[in-house]
Amino acid sequence: MSAIIIDNLTKEYLVGFWPKRRVRALDGLSLDVRPGEIFGFLGPNGAGKTTTLKLLVRALLPTSGTAYILGRSIDDFSVRQWIGFVPEHPSFSDLLTPREVLDYFGRLFGLAQYERRRRADALLNLVGLEPGVADRPVGKLSRGMLQRLNLAQALINDPRVLLLDEPMTGLDPPGRRHVRDLLSQLREQGKTVFFSTHILSDVEALCDRIAILKRGRLVECGTVAELTGSQRGQMMEMVIQGTLSDVARQKIEQWGGAFFQTPVGVRLHIPAERLFDAVDVVRQCGGRLVSVVPVRSTLEDLFIDEEESSSVDRRERGTSGKAVRGEDRPH
Ligand SMILES: Nc1ncnc2c1ncn2[C@@H]1O[C@H](COP(=O)(O)OP(=O)(O)OP(=O)(O)O)[C@@H](O)[C@H]1O
Ligand SMILES: [Mg+2]
Repeated sequence: MSAIIIDNLTKEYLVGFWPKRRVRALDGLSLDVRPGEIFGFLGPNGAGKTTTLKLLVRALLPTSGTAYILGRSIDDFSVRQWIGFVPEHPSFSDLLTPREVLDYFGRLFGLAQYERRRRADALLNLVGLEPGVADRPVGKLSRGMLQRLNLAQALINDPRVLLLDEPMTGLDPPGRRHVRDLLSQLREQGKTVFFSTHILSDVEALCDRIAILKRGRLVECGTVAELTGSQRGQMMEMVIQGTLSDVARQKIEQWGGAFFQTPVGVRLHIPAERLFDAVDVVRQCGGRLVSVVPVRSTLEDLFIDEEESSSVDRRERGTSGKAVRGEDRPH
């Protein structure tokens, strides 16, 4: 059973005064999140990430499509007992203290007073809000402290599925590390984490799988390794001392490879299946092979690529696009 199934979800907002226009923020999104995985939801500003998360918690109603959490339709109110939600912009009363905020959310889930106190203490400790801070009015908390409270409230009901909208926002580097460790611990406990973010290093460190959204449409979905091509191994990079003859250069181009002159020799990008042919060619030219490594694009390359072109364009450009990008990056 999937933890989250998003089925052809579409959301159009009505904007403007007269006449009202329809703006499609989410366009037929379908996704499947497995139980116990950390799933990163990426996309540029305005891609539709917050809209998706709000639809999942029923803070918004879809124009069409639906979703299921742990096998139950999100229309079913009882699903909420299993969900923890970190909104992008939390709005806690400025006058309450973090301890009181947690007590309030505990009440919403019908927890007994003793249990509310116990969980509040444990969560304040878990997210790193010290006793002095826990009893200070929310209006006097820093951005990072507020974000920690935002996370704590999402855990008050011991949820099985966590939906987090940019949970690392506003945190300092130790705070981000702390939350990363926390999300890993939650995964170890068997919980499913679905979170949106712009922090690609967190995605690479944490996520089992990711999806990239662009203008409301899903453009990529898979593991980081799959999407950055490190498992496809389509292109290999060879560094050579020496020069290549014109015939060798022609062959490499025919095989779909590329070469780049460097001050000390030549850097070659070659399809993996042509690697041994390329080694023969290099030997024939009297060149010395210095290294062979797979060409890896980073998540940032992928993200920027998706920004610049549609995924269809990218597939049409195929592997040669990656080789050219590889040229621009320091290795
Ligand atoms: N309440 C609203 N009324 C009208 N349009 C909206 C509303 N909320 C969002 N939008 C529009 O829907 C699109 C998607 O917005 P959304 O907030 O889901 O993006 P996002 O991916 O979360 O962006 P960000 O990374 O900046 O948080 C944007 O074009 C946005 O302007
Ligand atoms: Mg957002």
